[in-house]
Amino acid sequence: MTAFLIEPAPRALSGRVTVPGDKSIGHRALLLSALCDGEVEVTGLSGGQDNRRTRTAMEAMGARAEDLGAGRVRVRGVGVDGLTRPEGDIDCGNSGTTMRLLCGLLAGQRFDSRLFGDESLTRRPMRRVAEPLRAMGAVIEGSTRGDRAGEIYPPLVVHGAGGALAGLDIELAVASAQVKSAILLAGLYASGPVRVREPGPSRDHTERMLGHMGAPIEITGAGEVVLDATGWDRRLTARALAVPGDPSSAAFLLAAALECGADRVEVTGVCVNPTRTGFLDVVAELGGRIERAGEGEVGGEPVADLVVTAPRGGAALRGAAIGGATVVRAIDELPILSVLAARADGTTEIRDAAELRVKESDRVATTCAMLRAFGVEVEERPDGLSVRGQPGARLRAAHIDSAGDHRIAMSGVVAALAADGPSRIEDVGNVATSYPGFAGAINALVGAEVVSVVP
Ligand code: S3P
Repeated sequence: MTAFLIEPAPRALSGRVTVPGDKSIGHRALLLSALCDGEVEVTGLSGGQDNRRTRTAMEAMGARAEDLGAGRVRVRGVGVDGLTRPEGDIDCGNSGTTMRLLCGLLAGQRFDSRLFGDESLTRRPMRRVAEPLRAMGAVIEGSTRGDRAGEIYPPLVVHGAGGALAGLDIELAVASAQVKSAILLAGLYASGPVRVREPGPSRDHTERMLGHMGAPIEITGAGEVVLDATGWDRRLTARALAVPGDPSSAAFLLAAALECGADRVEVTGVCVNPTRTGFLDVVAELGGRIERAGEGEVGGEPVADLVVTAPRGGAALRGAAIGGATVVRAIDELPILSVLAARADGTTEIRDAAELRVKESDRVATTCAMLRAFGVEVEERPDGLSVRGQPGARLRAAHIDSAGDHRIAMSGVVAALAADGPSRIEDVGNVATSYPGFAGAINALVGAEVVSVVP
């Protein structure tokens, strides 16, 4: 297992960097291109392990993918009805998105499949995806742990319903892009329409990409999406797919710039889809400034360059209350926002975030433990946390464990840049699931090797 050693940043950050392609969009690009008739060139892929899991799974079911280098992959699709039974079990690694999206796709196939994952993924609840698919007629089995009635965990066995899936009209209890996407993918194989409503605006990349490829999908407003495959010619059009920069990865660099100060830090080509910009909104509420420049569009998604300038010693931030729909739009950024909250004047309350407890780790608990190790006063709540900020004061250098969670590891690095001495974070190999070049990007912005990888 590898660790990060982190020296405090000796100066304000500066520079222009790009972040790897968005993880969520990368999964969808690899999965949907495999269902096209013909060849699709996907560009801007992150090279992260999670996307790789989706690619390998689609290859195991007959798609061909050829590496063209620098995040470019040429995928030869097999058509919507062309997938074939994988040789062995499908290894989803650390990737909840791979497992949940595949559940929906596999529910409609003419073969059975078995999905498994690593230790972290094996602890993540899968009933949320199995239940609506079962309501469509799918048969999905998982392991039970006896902790929660009806809950199931990986490994999962998906018995393909082979043309016998029914439509569905469902209001999700919790906003979830993974669950919504699984239902839409199953809907490609259903005999009636699937209609999904959510209590909040979860990311809509699946809808956008399916629409871009000519699938019979409609966003009816009021948080509702309908996919009706009846009477459809069952062809997804092979069109080039460009993956924009990952806003969840960009958030770490922008937060580091706000925390340490920045002459000018520019992160280019970042996806600013409104379902993903909760981080930017919360930073604004904290009183931080991130400017947008060079706005445009990549692969049907809005993009912008994001710019931070902040005085040495960090931007002046104030505590804020974060809850409701903003939480859904910032769900993956709440650990790094908590680090910024630790530098703010006053207390920051994060509520309505119980979902954080079922991510790659229990992120309410692991974020609290990480901040406490840096000497920050935090209170853990069932659905969030409150963080007492210490503006100006250096954090206490810490020795922490990532708990196998890439976003905790990267949040810890950013906190450590403002510490009073060197810090160490154990078990950071998982950073490669989403952002393989993270340490290098921080070092480039600091202009010195403040983050090093050690055994
Ligand atoms: C994702 C959706 C989110 C997010 C996850 C990726 C996706 O989860 O936390 O990292 O790609 O669909 P939800 O399913 O809870 O929205």
